[in-house]
Amino acid sequence: MPVTPAFDQSVHKARRDEVLRRMREMAPSGAVAVFPGMPVATRNSDVEHAYRADSDLFFLTGFEEPEAVAVLSTVGEKAFTLFVRPRDKEREIWTGRRAGAEGAMTAFGADQAFEMGRLDEELPRLIGAARTLFYRLGGDDEPFDLRLGKLLRNLRARARAGLNAPTRIEDPGQIVHELRLRKEPREIEALRQAVEATRRGHLAAMQAGRPGSHEYELHALLEREFRHGGGRGWGYYPIVAAGDNATVLHYNDNRVQVSEGELVLIDAGAEHDLYTADVTRTFPASGKFSEAQRACYQLVLEAADACIARTKPGETIDGLHEVAVRILTEGMVRLGLLQGEVDALIKDNAFRRYYMHRTSHWLGLDVHDVGSYRLADGSPRPLEPGMVFTIEPGLYIARDDEQAPKQFRGLGIRIEDDILVTAQGHENLTAEIPRTVEDVERACSR
Ligand code: GLY
Ligand code: MN
Ligand code: MN
Repeated sequence: MPVTPAFDQSVHKARRDEVLRRMREMAPSGAVAVFPGMPVATRNSDVEHAYRADSDLFFLTGFEEPEAVAVLSTVGEKAFTLFVRPRDKEREIWTGRRAGAEGAMTAFGADQAFEMGRLDEELPRLIGAARTLFYRLGGDDEPFDLRLGKLLRNLRARARAGLNAPTRIEDPGQIVHELRLRKEPREIEALRQAVEATRRGHLAAMQAGRPGSHEYELHALLEREFRHGGGRGWGYYPIVAAGDNATVLHYNDNRVQVSEGELVLIDAGAEHDLYTADVTRTFPASGKFSEAQRACYQLVLEAADACIARTKPGETIDGLHEVAVRILTEGMVRLGLLQGEVDALIKDNAFRRYYMHRTSHWLGLDVHDVGSYRLADGSPRPLEPGMVFTIEPGLYIARDDEQAPKQFRGLGIRIEDDILVTAQGHENLTAEIPRTVEDVERACSR
């Protein structure tokens, strides 16, 4: 757990200043924003899941320790308050170094900092000074929702003593998630680092994946590369799916042996400075696609390429999904998976039998990153330079699907790339990870 920030403090300070500016704009009479950290998750007994900071809190502070709350305020002198775990020699021997309140100020630039034990005493003072509270109710920390609710109730009860509860609660996502949606050059650089580790991981898996190898061996190779060179591991739990395991969308047992003639689908992305890549590649264990596999693979690739080619400012995620759905549906008819007229098959959602997920999502600190997909009027949001999102069409044919021609049953294919929108159009950040039939077969050859 780093006691010093991953990025220069000025990066986080500039973001906080921008958030404060927008808070003033939305709430001229004074506002306070509260960002709780991600709660520690128990795995079992006294074993915890590896801790990973809350993305909003990290974005605004660079602080990665558990049990933290950041408060931004447009009222008074102290714009940035950080609540942190206390220094504790004994605990630090067990769980690592802590910044403490002093480190929160010196290393993380807080104007004031308190130990967490003082939250219930200090937070009412901060919140009570503002008319508007920015807090994301229904976030990842339900106990904190309750704690804050209780605090507001207490504040209202003390109205006669001159303390006020805010009269308005706003979602800070309106500000912070809008900022996170448009990546700064430094964030794109972190994503490039994540992509590079991801490229090495997928290549290692393609080289090692053969009949007789196990899903978990490929998983281990991915993890090795994701950590090698400074990365901290995966940004989401990897999917390593051989054969018809690939038709289970969220399969992640990763423990089966790969058989002759099977495809292996790997959906795995490395995390770098908390930014994650999200990449899927599908390759033939034997090194060569069979005719049926190749036909399906080419179809998915055609959909992916068409969506990528269309990506430019002004295009929409909904629009790209429609492109993918049309190409895939036409292909399903061509391959004999569906019968009928393409427009009707799309209108009736018939394609969902073999393509049941969406084509894209935002990408950044979170694999399914924040940012609204619609504008305030409900219309699809036009892409802008600096946005990063995935394009990930697929085709999944269940082993027991009696409607499908026999040779296609049990095939699961997805090709997923990470796309940066640029002023000129787009850049496929993951283009170097083999994706054409020829490049994939070459990467698998020994
Ligand atoms: N790896 C999660 C996704 O592709 O959305
Ligand atoms: Mn994805
Ligand atoms: Mn993925």
